[in-house]
Amino acid sequence: MRENDLTISRPQFNQDLGMGRGVYISTYGCQMNVNDSERMYSLLEMANFSVVSTPEQASVIIINACSIREKPVHKVYSEVGTYRKLKEKNPNLKIGVGGCVGQQEKEKLMKTQPMIDFVFGTDNIDTLPTLVAQSFATNERLVDAKFTHKAPYHVETLVRNPGVSTFVNITKGCDNFCTYCIVPFTRGREKSRPISHILMDVHSLVKRGVKEVTLLGQNVNSYKSEDGADFADLLKRVSLETDIERVRYTTPHPKDFNDKLFNVLAEHQNKIGEYAHMPVQSGSTRILEKMHRGYSREEYIEKINRMRELIPNLVLSTDIIVGFPGETEEDFLETMSLVQEIKFETIYAYIFSARPFTKAAEMTDHIDEAVKSERLNRLFDAHEAMAFPLVKKYEGQVLNVLVEKINEQGKAQGRSTQNKIVYFLGSESLVGKTVPVKVTQAFPNTIRGELVQ
Ligand code: SAH
Ligand code: SF4
Ligand code: F3S
Repeated sequence: MRENDLTISRPQFNQDLGMGRGVYISTYGCQMNVNDSERMYSLLEMANFSVVSTPEQASVIIINACSIREKPVHKVYSEVGTYRKLKEKNPNLKIGVGGCVGQQEKEKLMKTQPMIDFVFGTDNIDTLPTLVAQSFATNERLVDAKFTHKAPYHVETLVRNPGVSTFVNITKGCDNFCTYCIVPFTRGREKSRPISHILMDVHSLVKRGVKEVTLLGQNVNSYKSEDGADFADLLKRVSLETDIERVRYTTPHPKDFNDKLFNVLAEHQNKIGEYAHMPVQSGSTRILEKMHRGYSREEYIEKINRMRELIPNLVLSTDIIVGFPGETEEDFLETMSLVQEIKFETIYAYIFSARPFTKAAEMTDHIDEAVKSERLNRLFDAHEAMAFPLVKKYEGQVLNVLVEKINEQGKAQGRSTQNKIVYFLGSESLVGKTVPVKVTQAFPNTIRGELVQ
């Protein structure tokens, strides 16, 4: 199929579906959900809803919720509860739940939460304005949460004010079925957007002043365009054929890194930077197998070593789950030793949470909650003891920082090519520019510095 045979479509609405009604979206979860909320706002504005900044001003409140662990799901229920007073004052107020919780719970949410007026799933964002308008017109409680498994993923990136840095979805869904993870059930089967659509989006974002795009997907490096291009081809073409200054990507899967991709990452370091997030989940091969991750501890280390050969200053971060069913003290110590061996500068670590539909939830060897918490604390303590001295090496170095904004404290804030958040004294005129900043104080995730004049 030729690239230009693929049509990119933008949803069309009756222009006054919203009648100017105010809409407020509360967002939880990963960058995918953050980006989905932006898409919702864009579509709702196209249908003449108006965006408001507090729930009190809204006629429609949407909770775009996350179900990766049990805790964030509970947060949704308590947030719905906080709107009771608003609904008593204004019985016409509509409350909707979407995102991964909407997809997971569907009709069940309606039964247990009488305050909710509509529920929608992760494949039903493009018809959200119609659903909300229908909720006002009929006063019926509505559920729209069917996956559109067969529809091609031919959409345009919609973003109202992209700023300096923005997201571009490249895939949606996940087919990996890691045994602990709910995402394949809440996001459906993996689909990739055509490479021509992604390039078109990046070109037009550059024209709107964007300097950095983050290519987004549940498993970006299993990307496969309809014309056969893979993730390495995509990164290369975005780097070479567009004027974007920086390209980031999240989240990759260690099993889908190969030499072709390592070479592209190395060749285009000037745009992609010397940073990679490599979610390992566990340092024990036995647990990795139970998790269905598709690599062993040794294979993971081998890939990191290969990447470091090609990108000597590579900075790494990772995700870790502690207390997966059957995790022994020895397994956990293997995770601890891997963190020391790889020297991750940042770790995102979580206590295992049993999720509906998943294989791990049905395993019989669950770990005691107290043991899980103790392991998580031990992991964070050990990581901090390693990472604080490790990042001192940045002090005195000059980093290239793409300035994103002036933050609430009045400091210029941006990120370095190592993906560190950097603060320094600087003016509004620097926003959107890449500037040299000398590091005065370095912590594992953030860095203080001063502008090199
Ligand atoms: N697609 C990404 C992960 C998205 S979820 C990837 O494969 O890396 C983000 C992180 O949440 C995961 O990396 C994992 O560390 C954590 N996570 C997922 N399911 C979990 C569960 N059931 N309990 C605890 N942490 C979980
Ligand atoms: Fe979940 Fe695994 Fe897919 Fe990541 S790769 S979203 S952890 S199933
Ligand atoms: Fe949460 Fe769904 Fe993202 S479960 S982490 S919002 S894909």
